[in-house]
Amino acid sequence: MRTFTKLFLASVSVVLIAIKWNAPTFDPESLKGARVLVTGASTGIGEQIAYHYARFGAQIVITARREHVLKQVAERCLSLGAQKALYISADMSSESDPDQALRFALDQLGGLDYLVLNHIGPSPFSMWDGDMDHIKWIMKVNFFSYAQIAWKGLQALEQSKGSLVVVSSLLAKMPSPFLAPYSSTKFALNGFFGSLQHELAMKRSNVSLTICTLGLIDTDSAMEKVKGKTVAPAYPATDAALNIIVAGATRQPEVYYPWFTYVVTIVKDLFPGITSYSMRNSYTYEP
Ligand SMILES: NC(=O)c1ccc[n+]([C@@H]2O[C@H](COP(=O)([O-])OP(=O)(O)OC[C@H]3O[C@@H](n4cnc5c(N)ncnc54)[C@H](OP(=O)(O)O)[C@@H]3O)[C@@H](O)[C@H]2O)c1
Ligand SMILES: *[C@@H]1O[C@H](CO)[C@@H](O)[C@H](O)[C@H]1NC(C)=O
Repeated sequence: MRTFTKLFLASVSVVLIAIKWNAPTFDPESLKGARVLVTGASTGIGEQIAYHYARFGAQIVITARREHVLKQVAERCLSLGAQKALYISADMSSESDPDQALRFALDQLGGLDYLVLNHIGPSPFSMWDGDMDHIKWIMKVNFFSYAQIAWKGLQALEQSKGSLVVVSSLLAKMPSPFLAPYSSTKFALNGFFGSLQHELAMKRSNVSLTICTLGLIDTDSAMEKVKGKTVAPAYPATDAALNIIVAGATRQPEVYYPWFTYVVTIVKDLFPGITSYSMRNSYTYEP
């Protein structure tokens, strides 16, 4: 079984490389002056996404809750080469803040070419304890606000032939222990935006929609949670961010980072027993 699994992984990898080979080439010039809104951009992957867009000379609006942190990120964006870098504080658990953040970006930039939905509210890394308030709140932050912003954003993106980019997770395809509420929000995202991808294609929309599947990434918030609790390797946020941007710019429906998350999503259903065994054994837990 082991040898077979290895052979299978190897052949899938070859196919993957062949697919990558055929991927449209990325033209960094295409992002010069591009009008971009990035959510959850005060820290982590969102912050790195903002810096990459800045280096490509884009016009950026960033949002998150903490204004003083956003201010620093926006200043750094300008020093890296952004044509514009503005920020607006918004709490995505509120009814009105998601719309306000989008409105601000549309007003300040005069339209939108890239809408990158990336924010998540903090959630605990622990066994499900029945906290319904947390589930309702995290659904609002990680899912409802995405649907809300996307709907209004799509109208602007339609005009600019722009791109909607949704940052999701391997846990949207394969739940892990200790993250039941978070994982539910990511499953909801993939269901919703997967459905929307069909509808956009059927409507012959001008908009491309990219769903990003990420493995474990070395952001402070993620590392703090899993420290000493998992043997899984973490990958650099700056690389994850660049892969997300390139996938959006080349209008790909999906992107996987690191690359083996793609292999995992293909293999997991073929070997459910091994998959569950490896998932449970990649975490330490003492009852
Ligand atoms: N890191 C990983 O291992 C990993 C793996 C797979 C997928 N992902 C995905 O990658 C994306 C970024 O993850 P990350 O690790 O970079 O997260 P992070 O470092 O925790 O950043 C989360 C961002 O969201 C903002 N935020 C939190 N609560 C908010 C609220 N109520 N309203 C508005 N903004 C809020 C935070 O800023 P404020 O606190 O200032 O509001 C921050 O800018 C997420 O979609 C995540 O699911 C991450
Ligand atoms: C695509 O963009 C053009 C403008 O370039 C617009 O006339 C058309 O209505 C858009 N398509 C859709 C489906 O909205």
